Amino acid sequence: MRKKIIAGNWKMNMTPTEARDLLELLKPSLDTKDVDILFCVPAIDLLIAKELLAGTGIEVGAQNMYFEEKGAYTGEISAEMLVDAGVSYVILGHSERRGYFKEDDEMINKKVCKAFESGIIPILCCGESMEQREEGITLEFIRDQIVKDLAGVTKDQVARMIIAYEPIWAIGTGKNATSDQAEEVCAAIRKEIARLYDDDTAQSVRIQYGGSVKSNNAPELFTKANIDGALVGGASLRSEFIQIVNSAKENS
Ligand code: 13P
Repeated sequence: MRKKIIAGNWKMNMTPTEARDLLELLKPSLDTKDVDILFCVPAIDLLIAKELLAGTGIEVGAQNMYFEEKGAYTGEISAEMLVDAGVSYVILGHSERRGYFKEDDEMINKKVCKAFESGIIPILCCGESMEQREEGITLEFIRDQIVKDLAGVTKDQVARMIIAYEPIWAIGTGKNATSDQAEEVCAAIRKEIARLYDDDTAQSVRIQYGGSVKSNNAPELFTKANIDGALVGGASLRSEFIQIVNSAKENS
């Protein structure tokens, strides 16, 4: 049985002062019995989040990372820096990075490999645009992303990672995928992992859904066999996040 994992992706929100206030507000109502909880915060909030969440079992993740070891890459953050800060997860391949910052599958693959090499667990995001969905090429497109982004990754690594299915049209729009739509794609991702690796690996990898997850749609999403949690954007910035975590517990 896979333990569900609920991750908040704060995106470019929360100054250090706001981060402290929000975590202090949420912390007393969150516990990691029956569910894994993770906050993926802006780089400048990582150390504060680590400090505030120490001893709670709640993990801290970054939202990006560069694949080079160190050196003249102004503005970038290395895997070694994240490890030294106690960060255990990193979101890679988010559609906002693919879109606004032109990250392609080749770059994302290098980042995924570097994360594993450094002992950080990647949350690899994939997802189709509305045009692709309307064209009927959703599954084909996502399988292609998975194959490219996981090139050279071993089955033991995949078994420990997280894949987040985030349809681009559902992100920040208030229009979530229905639980059946999300389940169809998450099941296809698991099948693709079984094809690329084996059944055991496919049964171990945790697959989240992300895209307008709220307290009112989370319960139904979490009843689905292949949805192992959520990557939550907007609703992770408020106390609603607690209700989403609690619905995951109820379906654990
Ligand atoms: P929203 O929950 O705000 O739609 O964002 C989803 C997302 O992109 C999480 O990574």
